Amino acid sequence: MSVTTEHVPVLVEKVVSLLRPCLGVGTVIDATAGGGGHLWALAQEMQKLIPVGKQRCRLIGIDIDATALRFAQSRLSDFGCTFIREMAGVSSPVGCNQLSMILLIQANYVNMAEVVERLGISPVSGVLMDLGLSSYQLRPERGFSFEADGPLDMRFDQQSSKPTAREILQEASINDLYSWFRVYADEPMAGRISRQIYAARKDIRTTGDLVKVVEKVIPPRRLKKTLARIFQALRIVVNNEIENLRLGLKAAIRLLMPGGRLVVICYQSGEDRCFKEMYREHRGELLLLTRKPLYPDADEVFANPRARSARLRAVEKTEVAQDKRNNNYVWRRE
Ligand SMILES: C[S@@+](CC[C@H](N)C(=O)[O-])C[C@H]1O[C@@H](n2cnc3c(N)ncnc32)[C@H](O)[C@@H]1O
Repeated sequence: MSVTTEHVPVLVEKVVSLLRPCLGVGTVIDATAGGGGHLWALAQEMQKLIPVGKQRCRLIGIDIDATALRFAQSRLSDFGCTFIREMAGVSSPVGCNQLSMILLIQANYVNMAEVVERLGISPVSGVLMDLGLSSYQLRPERGFSFEADGPLDMRFDQQSSKPTAREILQEASINDLYSWFRVYADEPMAGRISRQIYAARKDIRTTGDLVKVVEKVIPPRRLKKTLARIFQALRIVVNNEIENLRLGLKAAIRLLMPGGRLVVICYQSGEDRCFKEMYREHRGELLLLTRKPLYPDADEVFANPRARSARLRAVEKTEVAQDKRNNNYVWRRE
């Protein structure tokens, strides 16, 4: 992971082609808008498909990180883009027709249903979740990167009062550390690293301090990969990512109209397991659009090494399931 401010969206053509049938039918939500890379491609596609003037407020970008959304806002300015900072300040429903084609809103995707209700933007015909970290978040002051020294923060939402990575490390037991490194990072040296971090925890204030502690027990040739795994595991814990993902996937499935699609890009096995669990639970009402996950090809990985661990899965909500519940459905493929 290099310290860069450019975020290149992953598997962008596949995302657009899977969500193309949803554009213009209802609202499409990018639940992890980040720097707006996927939203930009979806907005471009929508311009081709839908007559000018009928495109209003059909794309919603949600992100928990207000800083990432500021990058998205400037990237998307050509399409007309409104940034709503605080969902609490939205009087419901916003007169969406008065607003621009893209709305960005700072929120946890767990609360997707509340966003939709407050904005008055149903039905929802597509949801995208591109998990993990945006390159914009790799700035040293955010504490996600082991390649530059900075405060050990790692919160996606820096305005929240939730504990930082440093505070979490201070309180963690050896067993906590061990299970985080095993479960969230498949770290083979989890035992040795946990003991070392536990012993030094009071002195770990910055990303550089944590790197120095790990360096003591890991040989140089394995250091970079190990640090990437340790930082990933801590980030997942700090942001409660796995529980959020479970709730976010459920919220997305519940919100989708019949025929609506959910596209998820995972970067590690824990995230992928959540998707599979969700699919098993909702099997009767979902059609799997990707029997095998889709991976980036060699050219994409060469151009954007961050894409190497990406795998994409997608489902469509079937009409039958909705029909059983509501006896009424609205989806028509155009
Ligand atoms: C890989 S980035 C998305 C990049 C984006 N697709 C693009 O093309 O620029 C993942 C984003 O998900 C956001 N995120 C993580 N957990 C979230 C949550 N619970 N709710 C909303 N956004 C979240 C992060 O802040 C980050 O910006």
